[in-house]
Amino acid sequence: MMVGCAPEEMGMLNIYRVPGFRGTCKVDPKELTKYLVSQATEGNRVTQDPNDVKYQDFELDVANGPEILKEAVEDIMLQFGFSCGYKVGLVNAWTICHEREHQTYPHNHIDEENNYACVYWAQVPEGSGDLEFYPLGMPGEPIIVKPIAGQFMIFPGSVLHGVRQNLSDELRVSMSLNLIMNIRQPLTEGQKEFARDRLGIDEDIEK
Ligand SMILES: [Fe+2]
Repeated sequence: MMVGCAPEEMGMLNIYRVPGFRGTCKVDPKELTKYLVSQATEGNRVTQDPNDVKYQDFELDVANGPEILKEAVEDIMLQFGFSCGYKVGLVNAWTICHEREHQTYPHNHIDEENNYACVYWAQVPEGSGDLEFYPLGMPGEPIIVKPIAGQFMIFPGSVLHGVRQNLSDELRVSMSLNLIMNIRQPLTEGQKEFARDRLGIDEDIEK
């Protein structure tokens, strides 16, 4: 594929020649779905302007949220941080719950403090809409990403992306994160634990 990666691959990806990452989060997506749907209330809307693409975003308070939310976010950041070798920080988090015919218009995240964006798929019924990345200022077809419940994808916040209409009668539930990748840092205890427990790496972990 000219654009560099097969989006169904796991691990480090190459989206329009810039790095991304796809992985599986350790939490139960059904349990996390229940919490995410509970946060989709009027008071949690990121904006009250229905013309803003963020109108469908419901803010998540990770620091004060339940354990399953913290675990999910930490696991995603550990996997990405360990794979790219950089320290990764959380800027903000939100959930989107698409009803039938809802979609997310093409947008990017460059107006925010982050340099990477993440989507975690909590509940994605058949026909509920694929994620698409669009080439900007160069020829080429969109990259179409098939979502799978329990998996997540991280991509540069500058890349234009959107979600096709939900043609299912069930909710399509996702969680989004804005992440910031900092300069190379020594591995944290959490990253070392992740490497030992999930990747089976025990020696020379700093190398
Ligand atoms: Fe987005």
